[in-house]
Amino acid sequence: MRHTLKALAVITLIGLPLLAEGGSDTKGKYYFKKSCKSCHAAGGVGKEVTPLIKTQAQWKAYFAAGKHNKGTEPLSKVAKPDQVKDIQTFLTAHASDSPQPMTCG
Ligand code: HEC
Repeated sequence: MRHTLKALAVITLIGLPLLAEGGSDTKGKYYFKKSCKSCHAAGGVGKEVTPLIKTQAQWKAYFAAGKHNKGTEPLSKVAKPDQVKDIQTFLTAHASDSPQPMTCG
C-alpha cells in the first residue's frame, strides 16, 4: 500500500508539469466556449468552429501561425496566450482525425 502511494506521488509529480507544458484539454474546452463560441456558434459572426473542422496537423499549423480572422489579427487578440495554449490542446485533441473527435455544439 505504501509503495503504491509513493508510486502515485512520483507519477503525479512527474505528470503535472508535463500537462502544464502541453496545455489542458479540460480548461481549453472551457476557454473555447467562453472566448470563441460567442462568435463561432452556428449563425455567429465568424463561421461555426468546432474541433472537427480541422485535422490535428491543420490545428497545429493554425496555432503555429497564430493568426485569426483570415490572417488579419493575432489570435492573442481574442484570448490570453495561456488560454490560447489550452484551447489549442482542446481543439487538437478532438480534431477530425483524433482518437476522440468532438463537435462541441
Ligand atoms: C469577436 C468575434 C470572434 C471571436 C471572439 C473569435 N473569432 Fe474566430 N473568427 C471571427 C471572424 C469574423 C472570422 C472570419 C470568418 C470568415 O472566414 O468569414 C473568424 C475566423 C476564425 C477561424 C477560421 C480561420 C481564420 O482564422 O480565418 C478560426 C479557426 C477561428 N476563427 C478560431 C477562433 C478561436 C479558436 C477563437 C477563440 C480563441 C476565436 N476564433 C474567437 C470572429 C471571432
